[in-house]
Amino acid sequence: MNGKSSNAKYITAEEGGTQVEFAGLQMSGARRGPGRWSRVEQMLALACLLLTVIVVVLIIMVVSSAASQDKSKVTRKKPELGGSADGDYLIPDDLDLTNICLTPGCVNAASRLVSTMDNSVEPCDNFYDFACGNWNKKNTIPDDQPSYNTFSKLGDEIQVILKRYIEQDVDSAKDTKFTVKAKHLYRSCMNETQINSEGLTPIHDLLQDLGGWPILEGVSSWKRTQADVLDLLIKLNLIDQNFLIWQTVSADDKDSSMNIIQLDQSDLGMPVREYFLDEVAAARRTVYRKYMHDVAVMLGADAETAERDVEEMMLFEIELAKITIPSSKRRDNQEMYNKMTVGRLQQLVPEFDWLVCLQRLFGHVGITITDQEPLVVYAPSYLAGLGKLYQATDNRVIVNYLLWRLMMKWVNNLPTQYRNIKNEYIKNIYGSQADPPRWAECVTFVNNKMGNALGRLFVEEHFDESSKDTALEMIHNIRDSFYALLEEATWMDEPTRIVAKEKADAISEKIGYADSILVDSELNKEYEEVDYYPDRYVENIITSLKHTAKSKLRNLRIPVDRTKWSTSTTPALVNAFYSPTKNQISGYLLILYTQI
Ligand SMILES: *[C@@H]1O[C@H](CO)[C@@H](O)[C@H](O)[C@H]1NC(C)=O
Repeated sequence: MNGKSSNAKYITAEEGGTQVEFAGLQMSGARRGPGRWSRVEQMLALACLLLTVIVVVLIIMVVSSAASQDKSKVTRKKPELGGSADGDYLIPDDLDLTNICLTPGCVNAASRLVSTMDNSVEPCDNFYDFACGNWNKKNTIPDDQPSYNTFSKLGDEIQVILKRYIEQDVDSAKDTKFTVKAKHLYRSCMNETQINSEGLTPIHDLLQDLGGWPILEGVSSWKRTQADVLDLLIKLNLIDQNFLIWQTVSADDKDSSMNIIQLDQSDLGMPVREYFLDEVAAARRTVYRKYMHDVAVMLGADAETAERDVEEMMLFEIELAKITIPSSKRRDNQEMYNKMTVGRLQQLVPEFDWLVCLQRLFGHVGITITDQEPLVVYAPSYLAGLGKLYQATDNRVIVNYLLWRLMMKWVNNLPTQYRNIKNEYIKNIYGSQADPPRWAECVTFVNNKMGNALGRLFVEEHFDESSKDTALEMIHNIRDSFYALLEEATWMDEPTRIVAKEKADAISEKIGYADSILVDSELNKEYEEVDYYPDRYVENIITSLKHTAKSKLRNLRIPVDRTKWSTSTTPALVNAFYSPTKNQISGYLLILYTQI
């Protein structure tokens, strides 16, 4: 209801404009007046002039007061931008008032935008503060997050909603198979009494299954062979862990109808390559090394062995960092895309038995690989460097390193009292100070493992179908603008323009969620192979990882269905992007959900 004062201002500004203009005319008129008049004539002329001015001013006042009553009706309908006291952000006079969206969604969105703006800042001085200043004033970075933005905030709000669904007891009348599984998974994660009572036993069992972590075996532990390294790499791959060599099956960038094996460099233990190499990052390396050491000792290593093995692993990872290709050199997709056969890769990197490795891996899903199998290598020079490093390094160090990388990720799954071990590391490397609340970790966990199931629960109760249409309309508008740009692009020749238009025509849209998640039987089928128990947290994790790994491998002989949503991602994400390989615009379910 500050409409009144703002209206007054709005009209005053208009009046002011008129007055200035009027006065200016009068002055120039006076100057142009006749040259020689008597004193009386001059006095009369002046009196005349004054009277005229008074009459004109009176007329203006009458007219404008009538107009102001009129206008106040109109302006009350106008959305008021600057909500601040100075209120000097005016609605343009020519704004088409019939074309304003006043649905709750629009009003909410507008309100969110306006409330984040800081109108006390002049946009020409500092546009960022003008547009986002109040957001920063109203939000602080939560202790458990390294940064915070509108996406993270929306994500936080959505977690609360998802939690409400999956924390409920299983209701045999209402629940179906997939919702029961999601609830069991959540419960197994939340039951810390159960997790704590098992202590470190599950992680020791896992290490045993993987052939044992040498660092825990003491100085006189047995040697490892290259066969042990290969075994371990395959076992890790089968629980969806890609260390040293990143491997997946996905659509071929140059023939998006076919899936193909893809190989690339994998990430390192610390998030940035330079942390391993730069002088200035020495303190970070110290923290990382201490983390390695602490985890090994916690799991039973003797301090002396841990000291020595950590040193070796660190040196190995520094060598690894040296051969990884920095992201600045990984921008050209054309250059990175190297399609070759397994046989050719074998020639390029002979130190590593690619064929046997891939045969064993894909053998798990009954797929035969020959040396003619095509694959795409995104980092040939890295793989070549890795081959040499692999030959030159003691196999025990490599096995130690591979399992360290797994343990590093596994710390979060440990009983409460062991989880703090990572705090110092997280604080130094990522800057966040605390763990998220357990329930939030568990919601994320279930959403990662059963994304479509949670997406479905969300859609059922919270999703407004019309926002899907709005998003589609936006995409179509973007495409139309692109067509317009194409027409204007003088630098583009005609054949290219035709191809560009064809490609734009072919963009597929994935907005919100796949319709299949609305069908119970489809979801039950998706999770058919996995069984989750409310009291077996670690077992559940491994079941899920194995399932993910196998599904990826199986994709190799399945043609890409571009209309199908990937089941490895979850619709309950706040995200939107364009995928060049699939020529596809995706806007996940929750990015459309802003009416909180
Ligand atoms: C958690 O686990 C304990 C120990 O196994 C069990 O007694 C308890 O019922 C479980 N709690 C819930 C909520 O499932």
